[in-house]
Amino acid sequence: MKNAFKRYFPYMKNYMFYYFIIFIGILLTVSSTIATAQIVQPMMDDMFIAKDESQLIIIPLTFIAIFFAKSIGRYLQSVYMNYIGLHIVSHLREDLLRKMLYMDMKFQFSNRSGELISRVTNDISRVQYFVSNMFPELLRESLTAIGLVGYVIWLNPMLAFYSLVAMPIAVYPLILIAKRLKRLAHRSQEKNADVVTRLTEVFNNNEVIKANSTEEYEMTRFSNENWHFFKLTMKSVYTNEIVSPLMEIFGVIGLAFVIYMGGRDVIDGVMTPGQFMAFFTAVGLSFQPVRRVSSIYGKIQDATAATERIFEVLDAKAAITDGDLELTEDIHSIEFKNVSLNYDKKTALSQIDLKVHSGQNIALVGDSGGGKSSLINLLLRFYEINEGELYINKKTISSFTQESLRSHISVVSQRIYIFQDSLCANVAYGQDIDEERVYEALKLADASEFVNSLEEGIHTQMAEAGTNLSGGQRQRIAIARAIYKHASLLIFDEATSALDNESEKRIQKAIESYTKDKITFTIAHRLSTIEHADLILVFQKGKIVSRGTHNELIKSSAHYQSLAGSLQ
Ligand SMILES: Nc1ncnc2c1ncn2[C@@H]1O[C@H](COP(=O)(O)OP(=O)(O)OP(=O)(O)O)[C@@H](O)[C@H]1O
Ligand SMILES: [Mg+2]
Repeated sequence: MKNAFKRYFPYMKNYMFYYFIIFIGILLTVSSTIATAQIVQPMMDDMFIAKDESQLIIIPLTFIAIFFAKSIGRYLQSVYMNYIGLHIVSHLREDLLRKMLYMDMKFQFSNRSGELISRVTNDISRVQYFVSNMFPELLRESLTAIGLVGYVIWLNPMLAFYSLVAMPIAVYPLILIAKRLKRLAHRSQEKNADVVTRLTEVFNNNEVIKANSTEEYEMTRFSNENWHFFKLTMKSVYTNEIVSPLMEIFGVIGLAFVIYMGGRDVIDGVMTPGQFMAFFTAVGLSFQPVRRVSSIYGKIQDATAATERIFEVLDAKAAITDGDLELTEDIHSIEFKNVSLNYDKKTALSQIDLKVHSGQNIALVGDSGGGKSSLINLLLRFYEINEGELYINKKTISSFTQESLRSHISVVSQRIYIFQDSLCANVAYGQDIDEERVYEALKLADASEFVNSLEEGIHTQMAEAGTNLSGGQRQRIAIARAIYKHASLLIFDEATSALDNESEKRIQKAIESYTKDKITFTIAHRLSTIEHADLILVFQKGKIVSRGTHNELIKSSAHYQSLAGSLQ
C-alpha cells in the first residue's frame, strides 16, 4: 500500500484544493455525527423526564439542522472524491496507453491484446477508489471514531473502557481477511484478462469460426473462463462480506456490556437515563466507522493488486531505445554488415551483407519463413540486431530516433491494416489530408476506378478492419497509403499478392517513375513482380543464398531456378 501511495502521489498532489473541500465536508459529517449522539441527552432528560415543552420545538429543529449539515458534508465529499478519482483514472489510462503504444514490437506480440485491454479498462477502474475515496474515507471514519470514543470517555470513562474493550480484538481477523482478499484480487484480475482475451479472439476470428462451425466450441471455451471468473469473484465476495457481520458481532458484545453496566448505573441513580441513552447511541455509532474502515481495507487490497499490474506495464523497459540523431535527410544508402537476428532463441537471419543506394529496386524471394519479413523488421527497427551492424546513410541505425527514421519509410506489410475512418483518412493516415494527393496516390495504386465507383468516393467510411472491402481493394488502399507518405524508402511485403496480374502490372508501370530516386524493397512470391528488379536476393533459412539479376540467377542459381519454376 505504501508503494502504491508513492506511485499515485504525483497524480494526487495536483488536487490539493479538492482534497481541502473534501476535508471541509468531512468536518461537517463528523461533527454532525457526534451531535446526533449528544442531542439524545437533552431529548431524554429535558424533554421526556423534565417535560420542558420548549424542547419540543428546539430538538426537532436541531435535528434537521444537524442532518442538513451532514448531507452537505456528504455531498461535497462524494462529488469531489469522484471528480478526483475519475480525473486521475482518465490520466492514468492515457499514460498507460501511451506507454503501450511506444513499447517495442516484442512487447506488442508477447502480450495478448485482451490482457492489455483489461489493464487499461478493468484494472485502472479498480484503482479509482484508491486515489479518490480511500484517504478521505479513512480520515473521516478515523475522525468519527476518535470523536465518538473521546465523547464516550468524557461521558463515563469506566463504562467506556468496558464497552470498547472488544474493539482491538476485532483487528486480528481483519488482517487475515485482508491478506486473502489481495490474493483473490490478483487472481480475479488475471481471470478478467483471460475473459477479455477470449472475447477479442472470438471477434477477430469470426470468419474462421463461422466457416468451421465452431461456435459451440468457442462458446464452451468462453464459458469455462467466464464461470471460473465468477467463482473467483464469489470467493472474494464471501471473504469481503464476512467482515461486516463479524464487526457487528464484536459491536453487539460491546453494546451488551453497556446495557448491563450502564443499566445498573441508571438503576442505582449514578447516571440519568438521558446520559445513558447518549452514551449508548455514541457507542453504537462508533462501531460503524470501525466496520467501514475494515471494508475500506478490502478495497485497498483490490486496488493494490491492480496497481501492481498497471505499474508492471508502466515500468516495463522498451527493448528498443531512441538514438539522439534526427534523420532529416532522405534515406540514400543502406548497408547490412554481417547482420544476425534472433527472436528469443530462434535464428531468423544470419550473416546478412548487403549494400543498397537510392534508385535501386531490391527484390527478396525465397522459402516461407526464410527471413524476408525479418529483414524488413530490421529496417523499421522493430527489433534490435543481435550481431553485426546496419547503417542508414552511413550511420548506425540505432543512432537515430525511431520516429524520424520511420518518417522516411513507407511500408505495405504482409498483413493489411485498415482503420475505421474515411477512405481518404486511411490513405493519408497520420498526415494532413490533401485530396489532390490522395487521388494521385490512389491512381498510382490502381485504385481510382474502384474508388470512383463508390457512392461517396474517397469519403466513404471504412468498416472496422476494412471488412466492407475486398482483399484486393484493401491492398490497393495500403499501397496508396505507402505512396502518399512520399518516403525515400519503400517496402512492399507481398503487397500485390491479392491482385490479378493485369492490375499488378499497371501498378508496377505507374510507380516506376515514382520510385526512380527512391530505394524500394519488394517481397513477392510471383515471378512477374520481381523480374525487373535491379537485384534479387534469394533467402533460405535466414541466409541470402544467391543474389543477382533475374537473368544472372536463372543461369547460376539452382535454387532460384526451382523457385522460378514454382513461381511462374
Ligand atoms: N515475431 C516473431 N517472433 C518469433 N519468431 C518469429 C517472428 N516473426 C517471424 N518469426 C520466425 O522467424 C522466421 C523468419 O520469419 P519471416 O517472417 O522473416 O519469414 P518470411 O521469409 O517473411 O516468410 P513468408 O514468406 O512466409 O512471409 C520464421 O521461422 C518465423 O517462424
Ligand atoms: Mg514474410
